[in-house]
Order: sequence, then C-alpha cells, then structure tokens
Amino acid sequence: LNLRHFFVTGTGTDIGKTYVTAGLIRAVSEAGGTIDALKPVMSGFDLGRAEQSDAGILLAALRRSVDEANLAAISPWRFTAPLAPDLAARQEKRVLEYKAVRSFCAQRLAAIKDHVLLEGVGGILSPIAESMPSLRLAADLGVPALLVCGTYLGALSHCLTAIETAKAWGVPIEAVIANETPGAPLPLAVFCAHMAEFTQARIFPLGREDATPFSALARELGLC
Ligand SMILES: Nc1ncnc2c1ncn2[C@@H]1O[C@H](COP(=O)(O)OP(=O)(O)OP(=O)(O)O)[C@@H](O)[C@H]1O
Ligand SMILES: [Mg+2]
Repeated sequence: LNLRHFFVTGTGTDIGKTYVTAGLIRAVSEAGGTIDALKPVMSGFDLGRAEQSDAGILLAALRRSVDEANLAAISPWRFTAPLAPDLAARQEKRVLEYKAVRSFCAQRLAAIKDHVLLEGVGGILSPIAESMPSLRLAADLGVPALLVCGTYLGALSHCLTAIETAKAWGVPIEAVIANETPGAPLPLAVFCAHMAEFTQARIFPLGREDATPFSALARELGLC
C-alpha cells in the first residue's frame, strides 16, 4: 500500500477543513479502504460537547467512540478558550511547545499503517504552537497540503496568497478545495474556472451539503 498523508489546511478558520477531512474519511471507508486522522491541536474545546469538536467529528467519521482515550489519541492538545491555541494555552498556564507537537505527529505518522489526514489550525499561518505557524508543521513533516478555500467575494486572492505562501515554504498544494460559501456571488463552477486562470493547482468544487465530490477527490488523491 502506497501511504498518502495530507495536511488539511485552509485560507482561514471555519472554512471547512474538518468538513472536508470527515468527508474524505467517509468516502475512503465507503470505498472499502482505511484511513486515519489527527487534529493535534484544538482550541475552543468543551468536554461537554466533545462530539461537536473537530476531533469528535473526525472520530465519528472514523467510526470510533468519542471518549477521553480516543480524543487524546488523535488530539492531545485541547484548550478551552476559542482563541489561537498559543493564546488559549497561555490562559490555562499550559505550555504548547512546537517541538512536542511536531514529534507527536512524526511518531504517529511513522506508527500508523494507513493514510493520514492531519488537520491544522485556522489558516496556513495561524499559530499551531508558541511562535509557530501551522504551515511549519507540514513543511517539517514533509506532508503535502490540501487547501480549503471559500467562494465569497475576495476568496480568490486569499486562496492565491495561501498558494504562494505554501510554495515559498516548500509545501506542495495537492489540491484546492473550493468550498461553496453560502450566498456566494458566483456559481461554484464559475468561481473555479476563474481561479484556474490564475493557478496551475488542481481545483475541486465542493457544493453545500453535497458529499458526492469526496469519492472522486479521495480517488484522485490516491486514498482509495
Ligand atoms: N460544503 C459544506 N456544506 C455544508 N456545511 C459545511 C460545508 N463546509 C463547511 N460546512 C460547515 O461549516 C462549519 C465550519 O466548517 P469546519 O468546521 O469544517 O471549518 P474548519 O475550517 O475546520 O474550522 P476550524 O478552523 O475551527 O477548524 C461547520 O459547521 C461545517 O459543518
Ligand atoms: Mg476544523
């Protein structure tokens, strides 16, 4: 089995990274394959609503129960404040050391005998630990990225900026997932065609509430 790992990142927070990661996990398992996921650092975590957290959503897609042990296994750094994780950690007087996050991920990637989707935090330069942007993790682990962007007015520039930044950091963007923004000014296909005039990146349109693209995307990415 040729293992493929991807860093799932986005142009910003709330853009659809977890939605895409969970969609890909389900598509791979529906195709009879297996896959794993990590969300090493998570903020805005409420133990009473763990099912709604990113790790909870990923565990459900993986068909694992949302309990302490399973949460800790895929998401060891969980913080309460809905802030950038470095700030959320400071509020709890906890240390969020980049080296520890990186070595946890490296160890898990080496140990897991499956494809792994690794969800970052917020946008590509959002902090994932003290003084360290998320993209650094993909660069250090040598994992290519899936970039989720929206289709609102202005999304094109946000997406191209992220693509250029990833290029500068040496992180290949395997695919851009254009995740339709509710109320977007353009039909999804028109947005994607426009973006294709500005980048060579592979662009996958993802409509609202439409799970059908995930099986095609999973196959294209070599996940099943
Ligand atoms: N294509 C879509 N169709 C329907 N709902 C969507 C779609 N994309 C995202 N959503 C919803 O939008 C919300 C934000 O998406 P999601 O949680 O995946 O973002 P995120 O980038 O992972 O955010 P965070 O930075 O907090 O990790 C979620 O409620 C999700 O279910
Ligand atoms: Mg998320």
